[in-house]
Amino acid sequence: MYRSRITGTGSYIPEKIITNFDLEKMVETSDEWIRERTGIRERRMAAPEEAASDLALKASKAALKAAGIKAKDLDLILVATVSGDMILPSTACILQHKLKAKHIAAFDINAACSGFIYALSVADSYIRAGIYQRILVVGSEVLSRITDWQDRTTCVLLGDGAGAVVLERSNDDSRGIIDIKLHADGSMWDLLHVPAGGSRMPASEKTVKERMHYIRMRGNETFKIAVRTLAKLVTDTLKDNGIEPEELALLIPHQANHRIIAATAKRLGIGLDRVMLNLDRYGNTSAASIPIALDEAVRKGRIKDGDYIMLEAFGGGLTWGSALIRW
Ligand code: ACO
Repeated sequence: MYRSRITGTGSYIPEKIITNFDLEKMVETSDEWIRERTGIRERRMAAPEEAASDLALKASKAALKAAGIKAKDLDLILVATVSGDMILPSTACILQHKLKAKHIAAFDINAACSGFIYALSVADSYIRAGIYQRILVVGSEVLSRITDWQDRTTCVLLGDGAGAVVLERSNDDSRGIIDIKLHADGSMWDLLHVPAGGSRMPASEKTVKERMHYIRMRGNETFKIAVRTLAKLVTDTLKDNGIEPEELALLIPHQANHRIIAATAKRLGIGLDRVMLNLDRYGNTSAASIPIALDEAVRKGRIKDGDYIMLEAFGGGLTWGSALIRW
């Protein structure tokens, strides 16, 4: 049986910065409240002409370069997103066209903030089964377009960005993706959703007027479930694979809230020095947050050959998942 290894990472963050002080001018909030409750200081916003596939393209080119391969060498493109260019076609197909990766399969995955781990699991399964050898896995979000800039309970949290990895077949079974765990609980779909724009409630004058095309979240309930669920997920992931917390070199969590991340690290018994954090600069970029943080960790030399690292996420669906990797 084959193993899959990440051979290149890349990311792209839009230039425009929106600080907490900028938000103070838009909604009734304060820099102090946002920093204390979330750990976020600023986030990025895509330029008006940029859509999810544009961010994805830049992150993908960086990942391909790092892996030392060309787009024509790929067998499959997966894009995790909840803010794709259009409802139809998939952002993965638009990205495939922009990369000139002719006729290879391409599709999107929607698992909100857990999207990148879900996509990584699909890619890993194709590689383990011997179907494909080289897969581009991307998380790309332009959440600013589905954010209600009049709603202080959500607009302070979200940001735009993209991250990508190249996953390749390997015969070395001591390295690569060791275990991925995926979970969902659809009974709590309404904790985090965009009410209109789909087949349940198509766009109309009423949906636009009532701001129903934007993300709605019951933050406090989501927070409590996230803390409880992630604590169990990360401890189960290590235990099931016979790995002690001391052996984990780096935890790369979905960047939703500093308090959720700190509680998860505490439950694992690891210090924050072994946790990758960048939400102070980018906020919650949903499916893009883990590949952006992973790319940053790789480029800063925080991951060395042979290190055990763990990715974990929780988000809309509800969905949650973890990936244990030996670098
Ligand atoms: N500025 C000032 N006050 C605010 C703001 C704001 N931006 N937002 C809310 N408040 C107020 C509330 O109205 C409330 O006031 P009240 O006590 O008078 O009613 C008070 O602050 C406390 O609100 P809570 O919602 O209880 O605050 P909490 O400590 O839960 O923090 C937060 C809110 C940051 C949203 C937190 O609940 C959270 O991080 N939730 C989880 C988010 C998450 O992980 N989502 C999943 C991934 S996202 C995705 O999939 C796209």
